[in-house]
Amino acid sequence: MDMASIAEKLTGILEEVFVALDLPRELARVQVSGQGQAAQFQCNGAFQAAKAARANPREIAQKVVDRLGDVSVFSKVEIGGPGFINIDVMDAFIAAHLRETAAEERLGVSASGAGQTIVLDYGGPNIAKAMHVGHLRSSIIGDSLRRMYLFAGFEAIGDVHMGDWGTPMGMILSELDISGYDGPITMDYLAEIYPKAASACKEDEVRMALAREATRKLQDGDVGYTRRWRSFIDVSIAGMKANFDQLGVHFDEWKGESDAHPFIAGMIADLKAQGLAVESDGALVVAVAQDGDKKEIPPLILLKSDGAVLYGTTDLATIVERVSAHQPFKILYIVDQRQALHFEQVFRAARLGKIAPEGQVDLVHAGFGTMNGPDGKPFKTRAGGVMRLEDLIAQGIEKAQGRLDEAELAKDMDAGEREAIAQKVAIAALKFADLQNNRIADYVFDIDRMTSFEGKTGPYLLYQAVRIRSLLKKAGWDEAASADFVMTDTERELALLLAEWPDHFAAALKHDTPHVLCDYAYRLAQEFSSFYGRCHILSEEDEALRASRLALCALTQKQICMVLALLGIDVPERM
Ligand code: ARG
Repeated sequence: MDMASIAEKLTGILEEVFVALDLPRELARVQVSGQGQAAQFQCNGAFQAAKAARANPREIAQKVVDRLGDVSVFSKVEIGGPGFINIDVMDAFIAAHLRETAAEERLGVSASGAGQTIVLDYGGPNIAKAMHVGHLRSSIIGDSLRRMYLFAGFEAIGDVHMGDWGTPMGMILSELDISGYDGPITMDYLAEIYPKAASACKEDEVRMALAREATRKLQDGDVGYTRRWRSFIDVSIAGMKANFDQLGVHFDEWKGESDAHPFIAGMIADLKAQGLAVESDGALVVAVAQDGDKKEIPPLILLKSDGAVLYGTTDLATIVERVSAHQPFKILYIVDQRQALHFEQVFRAARLGKIAPEGQVDLVHAGFGTMNGPDGKPFKTRAGGVMRLEDLIAQGIEKAQGRLDEAELAKDMDAGEREAIAQKVAIAALKFADLQNNRIADYVFDIDRMTSFEGKTGPYLLYQAVRIRSLLKKAGWDEAASADFVMTDTERELALLLAEWPDHFAAALKHDTPHVLCDYAYRLAQEFSSFYGRCHILSEEDEALRASRLALCALTQKQICMVLALLGIDVPERM
């Protein structure tokens, strides 16, 4: 069954009235009023319709109100201000709504994506180089978005899209040639030789030419190079998997830039045939500038004068590959906002070349800002280098252990369980601190603040969820029991907020913004605290009230855990 929020249900009722009055249906939208407003819900559509028709808004609003007779739904319908319709609903209506949604798998969110496939491109680590905090952001945000699309019923495919095909590969291969090394290639060995090779190439033209030559040979399928390259790809992937497992970030596909290679020649021939790929200063380019561009959009370079392919070439060919493999309705790139121009070029070329025809495949760059240190500059280690992901996680776990001690949590548990809890707290802290920001914004990495059990943090939400769970346990709450909700002044605010869930999920999905979910989870935890503070639950003598309040606790707990799961955050059984 398709469920909805209360606001959506009210919208449905008002739509009928609008249509009956010959007013535009889309203006009938009912929204939750902001805090401190005159009513629980509001519809501004009569006002807007009147403005468009140059009629008196209050009169139009009155006509709508006159037709809203359903006594089982409305407890108050009033016209406010210049013609807004203010609505309160009956307590019994709220109770019935909660009872319905509580029994539902996704607590009221409908599977709107059924039958549609989306490819998400996130992670994006580069072979041989340690992952850094930029890759951390991409992974955390991308994995959360993947979970959100899955939850909404989409077929969602997460692809790590490794950087495994550019000149850095040739730098390593030529370094191996020069040193004559033929021992085992490990992560540590790669981490040692790659920086050496890179700086040698930077300083020496001749050395760089060797790297380019090796890159070209690799890309042309040289057997020996391909075998060596494969071996360091494999160790790199193993290293990355360990990192991503620890973070709880999942990928369905472990593909890279190199996987686009087989599609490049055909794509280029096709773009040439369409007259889109043209020679320019020895290079092959696609002009993507458009009338009305506010800034200059340079052409996308497909082939350099030496025939080498570039980042844009592999990204374009990857679209060819993804469209043919998955027929997605959308490809979503969770990549640093500083690559916005690159994606603009690639997307335009894909449109022009009918690689991703308009109206068939949506191409979206969900960019993100920089994670900064306390000095406001991109986050670095104390030694000044880029922070490695595994060090960051280790640091988070250590800090989380300290926080558990401070809060006297997980006290009587054995070392193994404590360690597992500290790990969950650390991951919750890292992920929530990242996801709670509007992704486009920069934010300051503050390990003290993000690991605190107080404030808008991951650990605070974990703590609330665990606390409610233990309360339910103490009460002997039976999960299968479906209690009737009793609505009084004590319950109403929390109940209404719980009923808003589908609205917030829809907003988060629409704009690919997990921070909307973070805001909701935090508000819910706070609202629960104030509810909890003003009533008895375990000691409540009225049986019906006790059962109802426990049911509210259970629903809140389930709701918080559901949101956290969508953020990729795991809640411990106890702590
Ligand atoms: N490897 C790239 C980097 O480290 C990120 C890849 C992003 N995805 C893409 N399809 N371009 O910056």
